[in-house]
Amino acid sequence: LKTIQISASILSADMANLTAVTEGLERDGLDMLHFDVMDGQFVPNITFGMPVLAAVDHCTNLFLDVHLMIADPIRYVKQFAEAGADLITFHIESNSDPAATIAAIHEAGVKAGIVLKPNTPWEEAIPYLEQVEVVLVMTVEPGFGGQSFLWDMVEKVKALRQYAQEHGLSYQIEVDGGINAETAPRVIEAGAEILVIGSYLFRQADPKAAMNAIREEAAG
Ligand code: DX5
Ligand code: ZN
Repeated sequence: LKTIQISASILSADMANLTAVTEGLERDGLDMLHFDVMDGQFVPNITFGMPVLAAVDHCTNLFLDVHLMIADPIRYVKQFAEAGADLITFHIESNSDPAATIAAIHEAGVKAGIVLKPNTPWEEAIPYLEQVEVVLVMTVEPGFGGQSFLWDMVEKVKALRQYAQEHGLSYQIEVDGGINAETAPRVIEAGAEILVIGSYLFRQADPKAAMNAIREEAAG
């Protein structure tokens, strides 16, 4: 039986009601909250940073999954760790040295993950795969919620899953972008274990039922 974890991207949540939204999702059995941090440089959009993370950390016990889409992530690792991050993922396409950034994240006592944009070949992750707990495969171009899933990314997930098996590595594969009831089973089949869901989840009248449907489909 596969254990699938769902990480809700708060980018699509009602920001003025974040406390109520996260409390509701925690009751509904959500596994993680996903924070899309954007700086207007690495991606053409700006969202939120440490103060919002710290505020949410004070009102929930949920695992906090922080996705940094910023130009120089290593500069802010310590501050995101102090604000309550449990997992920090950053792009290997950023300006920070990946090995040093992973080390800084671990030094701050947080789980580390690398992120690959859709056009980055999975092989570029190889030098870091022994060091990370998570590999995040972007299944849309980073920057915005509500985009369509890029089907070619299923092969990237499969390749990373196969590499882990062949080399006895234990990183988890996370996918982010365009995940819904139709795409979830395909990425789970390919080997993804953490599913970021934004617009699809926040569109649901019954998010609990939607999350359970995705988990049951994976189990069956
Ligand atoms: C895109 C973000 C995603 C996004 C996912 O840059 O990394 O986390 O919020 O949103 P949906 O599920 O709507 O594609
Ligand atoms: Zn994200």
